[in-house]
Amino acid sequence: MKLILLGPPGAGKGTQAANLINSLNIPHISTGDIFRANIKNETELGKEVKSYLDEGRLVPDELTTRVVWDRLDQEDCKDGFLLDGFPRTIPQAEALKQGLVERGLKLDRVINVDVEKDVLVKRLAGRRVCKNCGATYHVAGKPTKVEGICDVCNSEVIQRDDDKEETVLNRIEVYENQTKPLIDYYTEEGLILTVDGTKPIDELSGEILDALK
Ligand code: AP5
Ligand code: MG
Ligand code: ZN
Repeated sequence: MKLILLGPPGAGKGTQAANLINSLNIPHISTGDIFRANIKNETELGKEVKSYLDEGRLVPDELTTRVVWDRLDQEDCKDGFLLDGFPRTIPQAEALKQGLVERGLKLDRVINVDVEKDVLVKRLAGRRVCKNCGATYHVAGKPTKVEGICDVCNSEVIQRDDDKEETVLNRIEVYENQTKPLIDYYTEEGLILTVDGTKPIDELSGEILDALK
């Protein structure tokens, strides 16, 4: 299965991906996670992209696309992948399409996780992520069993740097202007599957898996 998770910041792309890859057995490829790991490890790529993430702006298309293909060309992506947060612009979608054609591959589905703006702001304000394994929580909706400690690996959970309110509003605006047009783009390609991202997490994962059968 070659899948894309599309949706605004805080829609639950990462949360759904964590559930879906368990059942589908394909790698989860989140451009945001790749960039954050590089920033944390102070790599050349990390230095290049840091200011974009801090401000909630998009990393340039060419650089992002190169990073994605480096990952997709690895052995574990041969039988499928779940892209989360890529593509995010029409040029990224075009570059993905061209790269797939060159490799004789095609996408199976684009899952569009639909959530309205007010809900997104609340979700991102309360989101906490594990410093070590990246597991995602919410102070009200999905709290850790022990306050401040990851259920999975016992490391500290923290707030993401770009979850400050001002940056969140920026990210939502960037989504509206640059990413939302991809819904029409993939509707025309006949690939879109729109789901209600306000449903309970596990119920929604079940619904997506059913639709993919
Ligand atoms: P990225 O990391 O992709 O961030 P994002 O798109 O803003 O999305 P988030 O990760 O914030 O939200 P999510 O949809 O994964 O929600 P989550 O599951 O965590 O990108 C970060 C930055 O990297 C970008 O701003 C940009 O700078 C750069 N970048 C990345 N990709 C790029 C690209 N392709 N091109 C250029 N630049 C790029 O859930 C959120 C919260 O809601 C959690 O607390 C969770 O517990 C809760 N929640 C989830 N589902 C539910 C539910 N069903 N009900 C109740 N609560 C829920
Ligand atoms: Mg995410
Ligand atoms: Zn953890």
